[in-house]
Amino acid sequence: MIDHIVSPHPSCLCRELPRLEDLLIQVVEAHGDGHSWLAPTLEVFQTLKLDLSTHMVSEEERIFPSIRALKEEASGAFLDENGVDKMIREHDDSRVALDRLREPTNDYVPSQRAHAPNFVRP
Ligand SMILES: [Fe+2]
Repeated sequence: MIDHIVSPHPSCLCRELPRLEDLLIQVVEAHGDGHSWLAPTLEVFQTLKLDLSTHMVSEEERIFPSIRALKEEASGAFLDENGVDKMIREHDDSRVALDRLREPTNDYVPSQRAHAPNFVRP
């Protein structure tokens, strides 16, 4: 399961989070003056992006290796329960941030007036 999480997880988020941030910055620059909710939305997204990036590094460098060592019954292996609790709290924080983004993004449904002339799906 760890292998399943680690392989698509960072490659997808490490690529998509900066791309989404760039798109959101473009929208804020183009339309932020007339839509006061855009700048706070960017702030929430940037906080979420930073939190997720830090979280993924912690998982991959500390938590997942300790779980692998436990599974392999390596000597000295132990579960960092404080670290796991921290990861769970961070998941909850990310869920809150994603919920905060629902309202200004109309539940992630773009307006019919929305356009993205430079949008290129990778
Ligand atoms: Fe996680």
